[in-house]
Amino acid sequence: MSVDALPAMTRPVETAMTPEPRTSGAEWWRSAVIYQIYPRSFADASGDGIGDLAGITERLPSLAGLGVDAVWLSPFFRSPQKDAGYDVSDYCDVDPIFGTLADFDALRDRARELGLRVIVDLVPNHSSDQHAWFQEALAAGPGSAERDRYMFRAGKGENGELPPNNWQSVFGGDAWTRVTEADGSAGEWYLHIFDSSQPDFNWKNPIVWEEFRRVLRFWLDRGVDGFRVDVAHGLMKQEGLPDIAEAAASDSISDALMSPESVPYWAQPAVHEVYRDWHRVLADYEGDRVLCAEAWVEPLAKAALWVRPDEMHQAFNFSYLGTPWQAEKLRSVIDESIAAFTGVGAPSTWVLSNHDVVRHASRYGLLPKTAVPNAGIGPSSNDKPDAALGLRRARAASALMLSLPGSAYLYQGEELGLPEVIELDDHVREDPTFHRTGGESYGRDGCRVPIPWEADAPAFGFNTTGGSWLPQPAEFADYARDRQEGVAGSTLELYRAALASRSERDLGLGSLQWLEGFDDDVIAFRNGTVTVIANLGAVPVELPEGKILLASGPLDGPVLPTDTTVWIAA
Ligand code: NOJ
Repeated sequence: MSVDALPAMTRPVETAMTPEPRTSGAEWWRSAVIYQIYPRSFADASGDGIGDLAGITERLPSLAGLGVDAVWLSPFFRSPQKDAGYDVSDYCDVDPIFGTLADFDALRDRARELGLRVIVDLVPNHSSDQHAWFQEALAAGPGSAERDRYMFRAGKGENGELPPNNWQSVFGGDAWTRVTEADGSAGEWYLHIFDSSQPDFNWKNPIVWEEFRRVLRFWLDRGVDGFRVDVAHGLMKQEGLPDIAEAAASDSISDALMSPESVPYWAQPAVHEVYRDWHRVLADYEGDRVLCAEAWVEPLAKAALWVRPDEMHQAFNFSYLGTPWQAEKLRSVIDESIAAFTGVGAPSTWVLSNHDVVRHASRYGLLPKTAVPNAGIGPSSNDKPDAALGLRRARAASALMLSLPGSAYLYQGEELGLPEVIELDDHVREDPTFHRTGGESYGRDGCRVPIPWEADAPAFGFNTTGGSWLPQPAEFADYARDRQEGVAGSTLELYRAALASRSERDLGLGSLQWLEGFDDDVIAFRNGTVTVIANLGAVPVELPEGKILLASGPLDGPVLPTDTTVWIAA
Protein backbone atom coordinates (compact mmCIF):
# COMPACT_ATOMS: atom_id res chain seq x y z
CA MET A 1 0.00 0.00 0.00
CA SER A 2 1.41 3.42 -0.83
CA VAL A 3 1.75 6.04 1.88
CA ASP A 4 -0.89 8.18 0.19
CA ALA A 5 -3.43 5.39 0.52
CA LEU A 6 -3.08 5.32 4.32
CA PRO A 7 -5.58 7.25 6.42
CA ALA A 8 -4.08 10.67 7.29
CA MET A 9 -3.63 9.82 10.98
CA THR A 10 -1.44 6.78 10.32
CA ARG A 11 0.81 8.31 7.69
CA PRO A 12 4.41 8.76 8.79
CA VAL A 13 5.16 12.39 9.50
CA GLU A 14 7.45 14.22 7.15
CA THR A 15 11.07 13.70 8.14
CA ALA A 16 14.05 15.88 7.35
CA MET A 17 16.74 14.77 4.90
CA THR A 18 18.45 12.79 7.71
CA PRO A 19 20.24 15.86 9.06
CA GLU A 20 23.25 15.31 11.26
CA PRO A 21 22.38 16.09 14.87
CA ARG A 22 24.09 19.34 15.67
CA THR A 23 23.54 19.18 19.41
CA SER A 24 25.62 17.14 21.80
CA GLY A 25 22.90 15.82 24.10
CA ALA A 26 24.30 17.53 27.18
CA GLU A 27 23.00 21.05 26.67
CA TRP A 28 21.56 22.96 29.62
CA TRP A 29 18.19 23.50 27.94
CA ARG A 30 17.43 19.77 27.73
CA SER A 31 16.50 19.65 31.40
CA ALA A 32 16.15 23.32 32.35
CA VAL A 33 13.34 24.92 34.32
CA ILE A 34 12.68 28.22 32.58
CA TYR A 35 10.73 30.97 34.31
CA GLN A 36 8.66 33.30 32.15
CA ILE A 37 8.85 36.94 33.14
CA TYR A 38 6.11 39.14 31.76
CA PRO A 39 7.98 42.45 32.11
CA ARG A 40 4.89 44.68 32.38
CA SER A 41 3.77 42.82 35.48
CA PHE A 42 6.82 41.51 37.31
CA ALA A 43 8.41 44.44 39.17
CA ASP A 44 8.27 48.17 38.59
CA ALA A 45 11.37 50.11 39.67
CA SER A 46 10.29 53.40 38.07
CA GLY A 47 6.96 53.41 39.88
CA ASP A 48 4.90 54.33 36.81
CA GLY A 49 2.63 51.31 37.24
CA ILE A 50 4.24 49.26 34.45
CA GLY A 51 7.01 46.80 35.24
CA ASP A 52 10.50 47.40 33.84
CA LEU A 53 13.95 45.89 33.35
CA ALA A 54 15.47 47.58 36.41
CA GLY A 55 12.65 46.10 38.49
CA ILE A 56 13.40 42.64 37.12
CA THR A 57 17.12 43.02 37.90
CA GLU A 58 16.34 43.93 41.51
CA ARG A 59 14.14 40.88 41.94
CA LEU A 60 16.34 38.34 40.12
CA PRO A 61 17.82 36.95 43.36
CA SER A 62 14.36 35.70 44.32
CA LEU A 63 14.29 33.60 41.13
CA ALA A 64 17.78 32.26 41.72
CA GLY A 65 16.57 31.39 45.23
CA LEU A 66 13.57 29.60 43.79
CA GLY A 67 15.94 27.36 41.87
CA VAL A 68 15.10 28.03 38.22
CA ASP A 69 17.81 27.76 35.56
CA ALA A 70 16.80 30.49 33.15
CA VAL A 71 14.40 33.35 32.59
CA TRP A 72 12.48 34.06 29.41
CA LEU A 73 11.48 37.69 29.06
CA SER A 74 8.35 38.50 27.06
CA PRO A 75 8.97 41.46 24.69
CA PHE A 76 10.49 44.64 26.11
CA PHE A 77 11.42 46.12 22.71
CA ARG A 78 10.22 49.42 21.32
CA SER A 79 6.52 49.07 20.77
CA PRO A 80 3.30 51.07 20.87
CA GLN A 81 2.04 48.30 23.21
CA LYS A 82 -1.12 47.60 21.21
CA ASP A 83 -0.58 43.91 21.98
CA ALA A 84 1.47 44.32 25.15
CA GLY A 85 4.78 44.42 23.27
CA TYR A 86 4.05 41.69 20.70
CA ASP A 87 3.78 44.61 18.26
CA VAL A 88 7.42 45.59 17.82
CA SER A 89 8.44 48.86 16.18
CA ASP A 90 12.21 48.42 16.73
CA TYR A 91 13.60 44.95 17.39
CA CYS A 92 17.01 46.21 18.51
CA ASP A 93 16.07 48.71 21.17
CA VAL A 94 14.35 48.72 24.54
CA ASP A 95 11.06 50.57 24.87
CA PRO A 96 11.44 53.56 27.23
CA ILE A 97 8.64 52.20 29.42
CA PHE A 98 10.92 49.23 30.20
CA GLY A 99 14.24 51.13 30.31
CA THR A 100 17.28 51.21 28.05
CA LEU A 101 19.76 48.85 26.43
CA ALA A 102 22.06 49.62 29.36
CA ASP A 103 19.33 48.34 31.69
CA PHE A 104 19.18 45.17 29.64
CA ASP A 105 22.95 44.75 29.94
CA ALA A 106 22.71 45.22 33.70
CA LEU A 107 19.97 42.59 33.87
CA ARG A 108 22.03 40.14 31.81
CA ASP A 109 25.11 40.71 34.01
CA ARG A 110 23.13 40.22 37.22
CA ALA A 111 21.53 37.09 35.81
CA ARG A 112 24.97 35.70 34.97
CA GLU A 113 26.26 36.44 38.47
CA LEU A 114 23.30 34.50 39.83
CA GLY A 115 23.81 31.60 37.40
CA LEU A 116 20.63 32.33 35.45
CA ARG A 117 20.43 32.16 31.65
CA VAL A 118 18.45 34.76 29.73
CA ILE A 119 16.10 34.05 26.82
CA VAL A 120 14.41 36.87 24.92
CA ASP A 121 11.27 36.87 22.81
CA LEU A 122 11.48 37.20 19.04
CA VAL A 123 8.39 38.26 17.10
CA PRO A 124 9.02 37.42 13.43
CA ASN A 125 5.51 36.90 12.06
CA HIS A 126 4.54 40.55 12.21
CA SER A 127 5.80 43.94 13.30
CA SER A 128 3.99 46.94 14.67
CA ASP A 129 2.34 49.23 12.15
CA GLN A 130 4.66 51.87 13.62
CA HIS A 131 7.76 49.95 12.47
CA ALA A 132 9.81 52.07 10.01
CA TRP A 133 9.36 49.43 7.31
CA PHE A 134 5.58 49.54 7.52
CA GLN A 135 5.51 53.31 7.48
CA GLU A 136 7.77 53.23 4.40
CA ALA A 137 5.47 50.66 2.80
CA LEU A 138 2.45 52.89 3.33
CA ALA A 139 4.25 55.88 1.83
CA ALA A 140 5.77 54.00 -1.12
CA GLY A 141 2.52 52.72 -2.57
CA PRO A 142 1.41 49.62 -4.52
CA GLY A 143 4.00 47.54 -6.35
CA SER A 144 6.93 49.02 -4.42
CA ALA A 145 9.82 47.08 -2.88
CA GLU A 146 8.77 48.58 0.47
CA ARG A 147 5.29 47.02 0.25
CA ASP A 148 6.82 43.68 -0.67
CA ARG A 149 8.24 43.34 2.84
CA TYR A 150 4.64 42.89 4.06
CA MET A 151 1.57 41.13 2.68
CA PHE A 152 -0.24 43.79 0.64
CA ARG A 153 -2.89 42.68 -1.87
CA ALA A 154 -5.58 44.28 -4.01
CA GLY A 155 -9.09 43.74 -2.69
CA LYS A 156 -11.82 41.73 -4.38
CA GLY A 157 -15.05 43.21 -5.72
CA GLU A 158 -15.61 45.77 -8.43
CA ASN A 159 -13.57 48.47 -6.71
CA GLY A 160 -11.41 46.32 -4.50
CA GLU A 161 -13.78 46.98 -1.64
CA LEU A 162 -13.75 43.38 -0.35
CA PRO A 163 -10.84 41.77 1.53
CA PRO A 164 -8.56 39.57 -0.62
CA ASN A 165 -9.76 36.39 1.13
CA ASN A 166 -11.85 35.18 4.06
CA TRP A 167 -9.09 34.86 6.68
CA GLN A 168 -10.03 35.86 10.20
CA SER A 169 -7.79 37.48 12.80
CA VAL A 170 -6.89 35.28 15.79
CA PHE A 171 -8.11 38.20 17.90
CA GLY A 172 -11.46 38.38 16.09
CA GLY A 173 -12.71 40.14 12.96
CA ASP A 174 -11.14 40.24 9.49
CA ALA A 175 -7.44 39.55 9.03
CA TRP A 176 -7.21 42.32 6.40
CA THR A 177 -7.27 46.10 6.68
CA ARG A 178 -7.55 48.48 3.75
CA VAL A 179 -5.17 51.41 3.53
CA THR A 180 -5.72 54.88 2.21
CA GLU A 181 -3.13 55.64 -0.46
CA ALA A 182 -1.09 58.86 -0.53
CA ASP A 183 -3.53 60.46 -3.02
CA GLY A 184 -6.44 59.86 -0.63
CA SER A 185 -7.95 56.96 -2.58
CA ALA A 186 -9.03 53.68 -0.98
CA GLY A 187 -6.12 51.39 -1.65
CA GLU A 188 -4.66 47.95 -1.06
CA TRP A 189 -5.27 45.68 1.88
CA TYR A 190 -2.62 44.31 4.24
CA LEU A 191 -2.73 41.05 6.11
CA HIS A 192 -2.65 40.88 9.90
CA ILE A 193 -3.26 37.49 11.44
CA PHE A 194 -3.47 39.29 14.78
CA ASP A 195 -4.46 42.91 15.45
CA SER A 196 -4.66 45.48 12.62
CA SER A 197 -1.67 47.16 14.30
CA GLN A 198 0.38 43.98 13.62
CA PRO A 199 1.00 43.66 9.85
CA ASP A 200 2.40 40.26 8.77
CA PHE A 201 5.83 40.17 7.14
CA ASN A 202 6.30 38.64 3.72
CA TRP A 203 8.64 35.72 4.44
CA LYS A 204 8.96 34.99 0.73
CA ASN A 205 11.13 38.12 0.56
CA PRO A 206 14.87 37.49 1.22
CA ILE A 207 15.19 40.97 2.77
CA VAL A 208 12.99 39.81 5.63
CA TRP A 209 15.30 36.81 6.17
CA GLU A 210 18.31 39.10 6.25
CA GLU A 211 16.70 41.46 8.68
CA PHE A 212 15.91 38.70 11.17
CA ARG A 213 19.41 37.29 10.95
CA ARG A 214 20.58 40.77 11.89
CA VAL A 215 18.15 40.87 14.84
CA LEU A 216 19.24 37.43 16.05
CA ARG A 217 22.89 38.45 15.90
CA PHE A 218 22.21 41.74 17.66
CA TRP A 219 20.88 39.91 20.74
CA LEU A 220 23.33 37.01 20.52
CA ASP A 221 26.17 39.54 20.49
CA ARG A 222 24.59 41.04 23.59
CA GLY A 223 24.92 37.70 25.29
CA VAL A 224 21.44 36.22 25.29
CA ASP A 225 21.19 32.45 25.69
CA GLY A 226 18.35 32.05 23.26
CA PHE A 227 14.99 33.07 21.85
CA ARG A 228 11.41 32.11 22.38
CA VAL A 229 9.96 32.46 18.89
CA ASP A 230 6.48 33.94 18.68
CA VAL A 231 3.93 32.34 16.31
CA ALA A 232 6.62 29.99 14.99
CA HIS A 233 4.03 28.14 12.89
CA GLY A 234 2.75 31.26 11.15
CA LEU A 235 5.47 32.92 9.09
CA MET A 236 4.79 31.28 5.73
CA LYS A 237 1.42 31.53 4.07
CA GLN A 238 0.08 29.09 1.50
CA GLU A 239 0.83 30.09 -2.10
CA GLY A 240 -2.06 32.07 -3.59
CA LEU A 241 -3.54 32.85 -0.15
CA PRO A 242 -6.60 30.62 -0.66
CA ASP A 243 -9.77 31.05 1.36
CA ILE A 244 -10.09 28.94 4.48
CA ALA A 245 -12.40 26.02 3.76
CA GLU A 246 -15.96 26.68 4.88
CA ALA A 247 -15.88 24.22 7.76
CA ALA A 248 -12.70 25.63 9.23
CA ALA A 249 -13.88 29.23 8.84
CA SER A 250 -16.87 28.52 11.03
CA ASP A 251 -14.65 27.00 13.74
CA SER A 252 -13.96 28.91 16.90
CA ILE A 253 -10.70 30.83 17.10
CA SER A 254 -9.16 28.10 19.23
CA ASP A 255 -10.04 25.44 16.70
CA ALA A 256 -8.51 27.51 13.94
CA LEU A 257 -5.35 27.75 16.03
CA MET A 258 -5.20 24.02 16.36
CA SER A 259 -6.03 22.87 12.82
CA PRO A 260 -3.04 23.66 10.64
CA GLU A 261 -4.25 21.39 7.84
CA SER A 262 -7.29 23.53 7.22
CA VAL A 263 -5.74 26.93 7.84
CA PRO A 264 -3.51 28.22 5.02
CA TYR A 265 -1.47 30.48 7.32
CA TRP A 266 -0.40 27.86 9.87
CA ALA A 267 2.29 25.20 9.69
CA GLN A 268 3.20 25.57 6.03
CA PRO A 269 6.16 23.26 5.24
CA ALA A 270 8.30 26.15 3.93
CA VAL A 271 8.49 27.62 7.44
CA HIS A 272 11.06 24.99 8.42
CA GLU A 273 13.68 26.50 6.12
CA VAL A 274 13.61 29.65 8.24
CA TYR A 275 14.54 27.70 11.37
CA ARG A 276 17.28 25.76 9.58
CA ASP A 277 18.73 29.15 8.70
CA TRP A 278 18.46 30.38 12.30
CA HIS A 279 19.94 27.15 13.61
CA ARG A 280 23.03 27.96 11.57
CA VAL A 281 23.11 31.52 12.92
CA LEU A 282 23.04 30.24 16.52
CA ALA A 283 25.63 27.58 15.77
CA ASP A 284 28.14 30.35 14.98
CA TYR A 285 28.07 31.37 18.65
CA GLU A 286 29.86 29.83 21.59
CA GLY A 287 27.84 28.04 24.24
CA ASP A 288 24.48 26.31 23.98
CA ARG A 289 22.01 28.82 22.64
CA VAL A 290 18.40 27.79 22.30
CA LEU A 291 15.44 28.46 20.01
CA CYS A 292 12.06 27.61 21.48
CA ALA A 293 9.03 27.47 19.19
CA GLU A 294 5.70 28.88 20.14
CA ALA A 295 3.90 26.72 17.61
CA TRP A 296 0.26 25.93 18.34
CA VAL A 297 0.36 22.78 16.26
CA GLU A 298 -1.26 19.43 16.90
CA PRO A 299 -0.77 16.50 17.04
CA LEU A 300 2.53 16.43 18.94
CA ALA A 301 4.18 14.41 16.17
CA LYS A 302 3.66 17.44 13.97
CA ALA A 303 4.90 19.93 16.58
CA ALA A 304 8.06 17.79 16.80
CA LEU A 305 8.91 18.80 13.22
CA TRP A 306 9.93 22.19 14.66
CA VAL A 307 12.65 20.55 16.76
CA ARG A 308 14.34 18.28 14.27
CA PRO A 309 18.11 18.25 14.77
CA ASP A 310 18.81 21.11 12.37
CA GLU A 311 15.88 23.35 13.38
CA MET A 312 14.83 24.67 16.78
CA HIS A 313 15.78 23.08 20.08
CA GLN A 314 12.53 23.15 22.02
CA ALA A 315 8.84 23.61 21.24
CA PHE A 316 6.20 24.47 23.82
CA ASN A 317 4.03 21.52 24.66
CA PHE A 318 0.60 23.09 24.28
CA SER A 319 -1.04 19.68 24.09
CA TYR A 320 0.08 19.14 27.68
CA LEU A 321 -1.12 22.58 28.72
CA GLY A 322 -4.52 21.90 27.16
CA THR A 323 -5.03 18.51 28.83
CA PRO A 324 -7.66 18.48 31.56
CA TRP A 325 -6.97 17.11 35.04
CA GLN A 326 -7.81 13.52 34.09
CA ALA A 327 -5.40 10.67 34.66
CA GLU A 328 -5.99 8.76 31.45
CA LYS A 329 -5.64 11.84 29.27
CA LEU A 330 -2.52 12.98 31.11
CA ARG A 331 -0.91 9.55 30.80
CA SER A 332 -1.47 9.55 27.05
CA VAL A 333 -0.24 13.10 26.50
CA ILE A 334 2.90 12.34 28.53
CA ASP A 335 3.56 9.21 26.46
CA GLU A 336 2.81 10.99 23.23
CA SER A 337 5.07 13.93 24.14
CA ILE A 338 8.05 11.81 25.06
CA ALA A 339 7.65 9.66 21.96
CA ALA A 340 7.24 12.62 19.61
CA PHE A 341 10.06 14.79 20.91
CA THR A 342 12.60 12.12 21.74
CA GLY A 343 11.81 10.62 18.32
CA VAL A 344 13.60 13.62 16.78
CA GLY A 345 16.30 13.87 19.45
CA ALA A 346 14.75 16.81 21.33
CA PRO A 347 13.66 16.99 24.96
CA SER A 348 9.99 17.19 25.69
CA THR A 349 8.89 20.43 27.29
CA TRP A 350 6.09 20.87 29.81
CA VAL A 351 4.04 23.93 30.60
CA LEU A 352 0.83 24.67 32.47
CA SER A 353 0.48 28.46 32.35
CA ASN A 354 1.63 31.47 30.37
CA HIS A 355 0.52 35.01 29.55
CA ASP A 356 -2.04 33.81 26.97
CA VAL A 357 -4.12 31.35 28.95
CA VAL A 358 -6.22 31.27 32.10
CA ARG A 359 -3.87 30.49 35.02
CA HIS A 360 -3.93 26.80 35.86
CA ALA A 361 -4.86 27.47 39.49
CA SER A 362 -8.18 28.73 38.11
CA ARG A 363 -8.53 26.43 35.10
CA TYR A 364 -8.43 23.37 37.32
CA GLY A 365 -11.09 24.85 39.57
CA LEU A 366 -13.63 24.93 36.77
CA LEU A 367 -16.30 22.27 36.75
CA PRO A 368 -16.68 20.09 34.85
CA LYS A 369 -12.94 19.47 34.39
CA THR A 370 -12.69 21.64 31.29
CA ALA A 371 -9.65 22.27 29.11
CA VAL A 372 -8.29 25.77 28.49
CA PRO A 373 -11.09 28.32 28.16
CA ASN A 374 -9.59 30.39 25.36
CA ALA A 375 -12.11 33.15 25.76
CA GLY A 376 -10.82 33.92 29.27
CA ILE A 377 -12.98 34.26 32.37
CA GLY A 378 -14.71 37.45 33.44
CA PRO A 379 -17.46 38.80 35.68
CA SER A 380 -20.30 37.39 33.61
CA SER A 381 -18.77 33.99 32.75
CA ASN A 382 -21.15 31.17 33.65
CA ASP A 383 -18.42 28.91 34.88
CA LYS A 384 -16.46 30.45 37.77
CA PRO A 385 -13.58 28.55 39.35
CA ASP A 386 -13.66 27.05 42.81
CA ALA A 387 -10.46 28.67 44.15
CA ALA A 388 -9.61 26.06 46.80
CA LEU A 389 -10.18 23.13 44.45
CA GLY A 390 -8.22 24.88 41.69
CA LEU A 391 -5.25 25.57 43.94
CA ARG A 392 -5.16 22.02 45.32
CA ARG A 393 -5.16 20.60 41.80
CA ALA A 394 -2.73 23.20 40.49
CA ARG A 395 -0.23 22.27 43.20
CA ALA A 396 -0.66 18.58 42.39
CA ALA A 397 -0.34 19.31 38.66
CA SER A 398 2.83 21.38 39.13
CA ALA A 399 4.40 18.69 41.32
CA LEU A 400 3.58 16.19 38.61
CA MET A 401 4.95 18.40 35.83
CA LEU A 402 8.21 19.13 37.65
CA SER A 403 8.89 15.42 38.08
CA LEU A 404 8.84 14.74 34.34
CA PRO A 405 11.98 14.31 32.23
CA GLY A 406 12.68 17.23 29.89
CA SER A 407 12.42 20.97 30.32
CA ALA A 408 9.64 22.80 32.16
CA TYR A 409 8.35 26.34 31.76
CA LEU A 410 6.88 28.27 34.69
CA TYR A 411 4.85 31.46 34.37
CA GLN A 412 5.48 34.23 36.89
CA GLY A 413 3.16 33.98 39.85
CA GLU A 414 2.32 30.30 39.51
CA GLU A 415 4.88 29.60 42.23
CA LEU A 416 2.62 31.67 44.48
CA GLY A 417 -0.49 29.74 43.41
CA LEU A 418 -1.93 32.91 41.86
CA PRO A 419 -5.40 32.57 40.42
CA GLU A 420 -6.77 34.30 37.33
CA VAL A 421 -8.16 37.75 38.13
CA ILE A 422 -11.79 37.55 37.06
CA GLU A 423 -13.27 40.78 38.37
CA LEU A 424 -11.69 43.29 36.02
CA ASP A 425 -13.86 46.13 34.76
CA ASP A 426 -14.26 46.39 31.01
CA HIS A 427 -12.63 49.81 30.90
CA VAL A 428 -9.33 48.55 32.37
CA ARG A 429 -9.01 45.62 29.97
CA GLU A 430 -6.26 46.09 27.38
CA ASP A 431 -6.14 42.80 25.49
CA PRO A 432 -7.05 43.41 21.82
CA THR A 433 -9.02 40.14 21.94
CA PHE A 434 -11.51 41.78 24.29
CA HIS A 435 -11.91 44.85 22.10
CA ARG A 436 -11.94 43.10 18.72
CA THR A 437 -14.66 40.67 19.83
CA GLY A 438 -16.78 43.44 21.32
CA GLY A 439 -16.24 41.93 24.75
CA GLU A 440 -17.41 38.46 23.76
CA SER A 441 -13.99 37.08 24.68
CA TYR A 442 -12.62 38.41 27.97
CA GLY A 443 -9.14 37.64 26.70
CA ARG A 444 -5.91 37.44 28.62
CA ASP A 445 -5.73 40.37 31.02
CA GLY A 446 -6.76 38.17 33.94
CA CYS A 447 -3.46 36.28 33.91
CA ARG A 448 -1.38 39.43 33.40
CA VAL A 449 -2.12 41.37 36.57
CA PRO A 450 1.09 42.55 38.35
CA ILE A 451 2.22 39.95 40.85
CA PRO A 452 2.30 40.43 44.64
CA TRP A 453 5.61 40.46 46.50
CA GLU A 454 4.80 41.98 49.90
CA ALA A 455 1.32 41.74 51.39
CA ASP A 456 1.39 45.09 53.18
CA ALA A 457 3.30 47.25 50.69
CA PRO A 458 1.85 49.59 48.04
CA ALA A 459 0.85 47.58 44.94
CA PHE A 460 1.85 44.53 47.01
CA GLY A 461 5.51 45.42 46.44
CA PHE A 462 5.20 45.58 42.63
CA ASN A 463 6.47 49.15 43.09
CA THR A 464 6.56 51.76 45.84
CA THR A 465 3.97 54.13 44.39
CA GLY A 466 0.93 51.86 44.44
CA GLY A 467 0.26 52.23 40.69
CA SER A 468 -0.57 49.16 38.64
CA TRP A 469 -1.52 49.09 34.95
CA LEU A 470 -4.15 46.46 35.76
CA PRO A 471 -5.74 46.69 39.20
CA GLN A 472 -4.62 44.05 41.69
CA PRO A 473 -7.39 42.45 43.75
CA ALA A 474 -7.25 42.66 47.56
CA GLU A 475 -7.01 38.84 47.73
CA PHE A 476 -3.49 39.08 46.23
CA ALA A 477 -2.28 39.88 49.77
CA ASP A 478 -2.89 36.24 50.72
CA TYR A 479 -0.67 35.06 47.86
CA ALA A 480 2.14 37.59 48.38
CA ARG A 481 5.61 36.14 48.35
CA ASP A 482 6.47 37.40 51.82
CA ARG A 483 3.45 35.58 53.27
CA GLN A 484 4.77 32.32 51.82
CA GLU A 485 8.53 32.63 52.20
CA GLY A 486 9.75 30.05 54.71
CA VAL A 487 6.19 28.95 55.51
CA ALA A 488 5.94 25.16 55.51
CA GLY A 489 3.23 23.98 53.16
CA SER A 490 3.05 27.22 51.15
CA THR A 491 2.93 26.99 47.37
CA LEU A 492 6.21 28.92 47.10
CA GLU A 493 7.98 26.42 49.37
CA LEU A 494 6.43 23.53 47.43
CA TYR A 495 7.94 24.87 44.18
CA ARG A 496 11.28 25.55 45.86
CA ALA A 497 11.45 22.02 47.28
CA ALA A 498 10.36 20.50 43.96
CA LEU A 499 13.04 22.39 42.03
CA ALA A 500 15.74 21.45 44.55
CA SER A 501 14.83 17.77 44.48
CA ARG A 502 14.43 17.76 40.71
CA SER A 503 17.91 19.17 40.31
CA GLU A 504 19.52 17.00 42.99
CA ARG A 505 18.07 13.84 41.45
CA ASP A 506 18.52 14.92 37.83
CA LEU A 507 14.88 14.33 37.00
CA GLY A 508 15.06 16.55 33.92
CA LEU A 509 17.53 14.15 32.33
CA GLY A 510 15.79 11.01 33.55
CA SER A 511 13.37 8.66 31.88
CA LEU A 512 9.93 7.54 32.84
CA GLN A 513 8.64 4.03 33.61
CA TRP A 514 4.97 3.63 34.35
CA LEU A 515 4.11 1.65 37.49
CA GLU A 516 1.40 -1.01 37.42
CA GLY A 517 -1.07 -1.90 40.12
CA PHE A 518 -2.80 1.46 40.65
CA ASP A 519 -6.37 2.52 39.84
CA ASP A 520 -7.04 4.19 36.51
CA ASP A 521 -7.45 7.52 38.28
CA VAL A 522 -3.93 7.35 39.62
CA ILE A 523 -0.81 8.37 37.73
CA ALA A 524 2.22 6.44 38.95
CA PHE A 525 5.70 6.21 37.50
CA ARG A 526 9.34 6.07 38.36
CA ASN A 527 11.85 8.63 37.11
CA GLY A 528 15.35 7.57 38.16
CA THR A 529 15.48 7.41 41.94
CA VAL A 530 12.02 8.90 42.44
CA THR A 531 8.57 7.30 42.47
CA VAL A 532 5.84 9.78 41.60
CA ILE A 533 2.20 9.16 42.43
CA ALA A 534 -0.62 11.57 41.64
CA ASN A 535 -4.11 10.77 42.84
CA LEU A 536 -6.73 12.29 40.54
CA GLY A 537 -9.51 10.02 41.78
CA ALA A 538 -11.96 10.25 44.64
CA VAL A 539 -10.55 7.28 46.56
CA PRO A 540 -7.46 7.74 48.78
CA VAL A 541 -4.43 5.72 47.68
CA GLU A 542 -2.24 3.67 49.97
CA LEU A 543 1.36 4.74 49.56
CA PRO A 544 4.28 2.38 49.13
CA GLU A 545 7.08 2.45 51.71
CA GLY A 546 9.80 5.03 51.24
CA LYS A 547 10.99 8.45 52.21
CA ILE A 548 8.60 11.21 51.13
CA LEU A 549 10.57 13.81 49.20
CA LEU A 550 7.67 16.06 48.28
CA ALA A 551 3.94 16.23 48.78
CA SER A 552 1.72 18.76 47.03
CA GLY A 553 -0.71 18.75 49.97
CA PRO A 554 -1.15 17.27 53.43
CA LEU A 555 -0.93 13.49 53.57
CA ASP A 556 -3.17 11.35 55.68
CA GLY A 557 -0.50 9.14 57.26
CA PRO A 558 0.62 6.64 54.61
CA VAL A 559 -2.37 7.55 52.45
CA LEU A 560 -2.48 9.89 49.44
CA PRO A 561 -5.66 12.02 49.39
CA THR A 562 -7.45 13.06 46.23
CA ASP A 563 -5.85 15.75 44.00
CA THR A 564 -2.45 15.30 45.61
CA THR A 565 0.93 14.32 44.17
CA VAL A 566 3.76 12.77 46.10
CA TRP A 567 7.42 12.05 45.30
CA ILE A 568 8.94 9.12 47.17
CA ALA A 569 12.59 8.10 47.18
CA ALA A 570 12.64 4.85 45.25
C1 NOJ B 1 1.64 34.79 20.85
C2 NOJ B 1 1.92 35.62 22.06
O1 NOJ B 1 2.20 34.77 23.13
C3 NOJ B 1 0.69 36.47 22.29
O2 NOJ B 1 0.71 37.11 23.52
C4 NOJ B 1 0.57 37.45 21.15
O3 NOJ B 1 -0.62 38.18 21.28
C5 NOJ B 1 0.54 36.72 19.80
N1 NOJ B 1 1.51 35.68 19.73
C6 NOJ B 1 0.80 37.68 18.68
O4 NOJ B 1 2.13 38.09 18.71
